[in-house]
Amino acid sequence: MTKRTKNPLDSLSKDPRVREAAQNLLDVVAGVAAGHALEPKAYENAVQEIGRRRGRPLPFPLLSAQSGKGARVRLADGTTKLDFIGGIGVYGFGHCDADLMETAVVTAARDAVFQGHLMPGPEYLTLSRALVRQAGRRMPHCWLSVSGADANENALKLIYQRHAPAERIVAFSRAFAGRTLAMAEITDKPEFREGLPNHGNVHYIPFYDPDDPDSTQKAVTALDIHLKHYPKKIAAVLFELVQGEGGIRTAPREFFVALMTRCKEAGLAVWVDEVQTFGRTGELFAFKTLGLEEYVDVVTVGKMLQGSAVLFTKRYNPRPGLIAGTYAGSSVGMAVGARIIERMEEEGYLGAEGRVAVLGRRVEKRIASLRKRMPKAVGAHSGIGAMHALVPFDGSPEIVRDVLAAAYEEGLLLFSAGQSPTKLRMLLPVNTTDEELEAGFAMLEKAMRHVGDEKNLPC
Ligand SMILES: Cc1ncc(COP(=O)(O)O)c(C=O)c1O
Repeated sequence: MTKRTKNPLDSLSKDPRVREAAQNLLDVVAGVAAGHALEPKAYENAVQEIGRRRGRPLPFPLLSAQSGKGARVRLADGTTKLDFIGGIGVYGFGHCDADLMETAVVTAARDAVFQGHLMPGPEYLTLSRALVRQAGRRMPHCWLSVSGADANENALKLIYQRHAPAERIVAFSRAFAGRTLAMAEITDKPEFREGLPNHGNVHYIPFYDPDDPDSTQKAVTALDIHLKHYPKKIAAVLFELVQGEGGIRTAPREFFVALMTRCKEAGLAVWVDEVQTFGRTGELFAFKTLGLEEYVDVVTVGKMLQGSAVLFTKRYNPRPGLIAGTYAGSSVGMAVGARIIERMEEEGYLGAEGRVAVLGRRVEKRIASLRKRMPKAVGAHSGIGAMHALVPFDGSPEIVRDVLAAAYEEGLLLFSAGQSPTKLRMLLPVNTTDEELEAGFAMLEKAMRHVGDEKNLPC
């Protein structure tokens, strides 16, 4: 591991007096909050009002009390749910992790809520250092930002600037890159950009298909065709090493090596979007899990980081004026993000035998055992570490919606991913316990049996 330099500015959050005061505050808040649950009717009204304010209802009637323990979240009505989706991957250490809460409280007590690029605070430095330390020598630069889409926008700008006048991007079928206009164009889901202008400068290549022995060759050929059609016009290929929204699909190292090698030969940037994979695949970066360090030029991270960032090689360092923005993130988000990285490094989460990899194998076993009991209801599984998906029944969107609703009723929060088939997605806390897994899979089984009975489908 790279040598660690102490940052004297952030030792405040580790001072025992400060820590104790933070614990006291948290205890008081938890005690008072326990008596503040909403009555069922008030809860329902609040959920409905959120829908009215947004102009569209929430996908689930979920109003968190911002508390819980581990994978269990407490809702504002005082009930608890097992949260196996974590706000789509945000709660990497589950709910109310004592150490992360204390880090948050101390940081919040120090200065303003947000900080920016003009006058960064110590958390900015600590987080940037931690990210660069983990990314490896090739990528010494890091710009912090707020959301995954922000980080991707920054990545796209510095890639375009370096490769000007190239103005085209290649992405994979079923890619998801975020919700800004440019990211909606890259995202391979027309429903997500209905009515928006489309500049037609994004081209797709097929993602890996485990059932097709020629899959790698087909993807390389598709890339070559785009290169031939648009000579010197393509700036980068955007890789999601495990497609999240696309259905938790991944590929063997050789698939990525073949394509990344082709990128290098053709002078394209290798841009890796790790917004969803960050922290979830065994190493902090999936490109390290897959041994692709030597190929990556630009990488983006988010979600579990509690903020976002783009990291890049010297070659992609943008000229002044290209990247800025008022906010770099919340001070609390930065401090907690840095602490998450530190804990994953120090508490045995990383590596082939680390806790994330072991969690992945435990989940696989649970899915295999569920399939033994319900061979007709549990279809293909895909996933790694703390990100998984499985196809229920025929994988139609309607069935997935019904299973999600039934799981919710049982007390389990999951989400969907992918298309044809649609899947059940799990983005688990990296510290999910065996007890939580057992309870969650028992709820999933009940939910699937319920849907099977209701729809007359064999399980
Ligand atoms: C791979 C990937 N990239 C980018 C994003 C966008 O991140 P955000 O929603 O924080 O803007 C997401 C979010 O789901 C994602 O999964």
